[in-house]
Amino acid sequence: MGGVGADDLYGALAPIYDDWQSSDGMIPFAEVVRAKLEPVLRGAAGPGPLAFLDVGCGTGTLLRGLRAQHPGWRLAGMDASAAMLGVAARKPRAGSIAWARGALAAPLPFARQFDVAGCFYDTLNHLDDDQALQRALSAIAAVVRPGGLLIFDVTNEDGFARWWRGRPAFRGQGWRMTMQMRFDVARQEGTADVEIVLGGGAPERFRLVERLFMRRTVAAALAAAGFVPVLEQRWAPFDGDDSGKTWWVTRRMP
Ligand SMILES: C[S@@+](CC[C@H](N)C(=O)[O-])C[C@H]1O[C@@H](n2cnc3c(N)ncnc32)[C@H](O)[C@@H]1O
Repeated sequence: MGGVGADDLYGALAPIYDDWQSSDGMIPFAEVVRAKLEPVLRGAAGPGPLAFLDVGCGTGTLLRGLRAQHPGWRLAGMDASAAMLGVAARKPRAGSIAWARGALAAPLPFARQFDVAGCFYDTLNHLDDDQALQRALSAIAAVVRPGGLLIFDVTNEDGFARWWRGRPAFRGQGWRMTMQMRFDVARQEGTADVEIVLGGGAPERFRLVERLFMRRTVAAALAAAGFVPVLEQRWAPFDGDDSGKTWWVTRRMP
């Protein structure tokens, strides 16, 4: 899903996304990311207020958490999904954050540059192919100041093998959801057939597809976009789980 038409994909998930992220005792992924990101952002902050962009910001949980800690920072979020952005923008105190709709792999809708851009929770895995990944990283490079950082996670081969299987089920107040997950090794593609039932309504069904980008592909795309790796780390976001994510901290070449 490369275009703004990606909206439909998260449209059905948006109304329950935050509730789902906290269901069954789960910690929202964006909160796990924030705990890992905070020290890096504090280190990157200069004398002035830090300018941070969350690409694929979803319902804005990461940005709202950062805002609570850093009232002076310039915060912005971009997402392809109008529905996810709508949830983000309706939250209390969301008005101090700049929200924009836009799709990765095209120029990003920001005139100013940021000190740090982040892209988390599989957002890059949603891209269609290696070329789209390359275009996305170049688009992000255009809105990161020279010497600034791009920080992101991608689901790696261990993550697809571990998490993209079975049929997990979730439920919350007034909704239930199942995800039929599989990973096609030959195509290096994960597919989730999602079914959501809100209240007593008819089931809504949609398919999420995410791609495994091999380490060398990510490294080559970063280099072509002008980013130099500072840290590449296999990462288990949740205690006791597999290191199914790779966490990258990269710096834009001056
Ligand atoms: C799994 S959600 C993560 C949301 C948020 N980062 C979080 O941690 O909760 C992935 C997000 O990426 C967005 N997304 C997917 N493909 C995109 C693209 N090509 N351009 C911009 N956003 C995209 C989706 O709309 C969705 O909000």
